[in-house]
Amino acid sequence: AEPAALPRDLDGLKVVVSAGGTREPLDPVRYLGNRSSGKQGYALARVAAQRGADVTLVAAHTVALSEPAGARVEHVSTAEELRVAMHAAAEVADVVVMAAAVADFRPASRAEHKIKKSDDQPDPTIVLDRNADILAELVAARPEGQAVVGFAAETGDEHGSVLEHARAKLKRKGCDLLVVNAVGDGKAFEVEDNGGWLLAADGTERPIPLGSKAQLAAAVWDAVVSLVKR
Ligand code: CTP
Ligand code: CA
Repeated sequence: AEPAALPRDLDGLKVVVSAGGTREPLDPVRYLGNRSSGKQGYALARVAAQRGADVTLVAAHTVALSEPAGARVEHVSTAEELRVAMHAAAEVADVVVMAAAVADFRPASRAEHKIKKSDDQPDPTIVLDRNADILAELVAARPEGQAVVGFAAETGDEHGSVLEHARAKLKRKGCDLLVVNAVGDGKAFEVEDNGGWLLAADGTERPIPLGSKAQLAAAVWDAVVSLVKR
């Protein structure tokens, strides 16, 4: 059967989407990474292209995924490479979506040669430095009229619920929309389905029903359309 026709409501919009997980090298063969599959970011890029947008996908590390038809794909590895690529692409974008799982920290030093274990040396300790907050930087640098979308994977803890943490994060980051996934118990990371909430800077909060990553992408683009086409 033919797939249902999608609206071309992103026609003429330049969008930039980041996806996947960054890797921070320890030595030539080892890194600190995370479990992001990249599937949500790829789905966002694919759906945006299907809806008529001019799409740049800045892809960090992902599971094996086919490149979204119609999108320009730029591959990066570290948070710093992602940062440089996002700033360049965002300069001319109407919409920026930070779906990548960016390492918060990187090893303070990168060994030039493979780290060896030794019986007469103490075992090594990894010292970490903070990476730049790319989303916050993009918000601070954004051109007039650009919409910026962030993602947050949250668990509740003794300091607050998933939604309470997410509301605070939206304020802190200053983005227009925050897509919130509840994680833990095998949710969101490495799974096909995603759900959560869509929080807007104007205080609007919409639940996103559990569904495919393409469905979540569609809900995000629906919200973006109502933001940019006012
Ligand atoms: N993000 C980013 N740069 C970073 C870290 C995160 O741009 N160095 C972006 C992510 O791509 C995501 C959003 O910020 O869109 C929220 O990421 P998250 O890890 O939930 O937020 P943090 O500010 O890193 O807070 P936490 O301490 O909860 O990890
Ligand atoms: Ca983080």
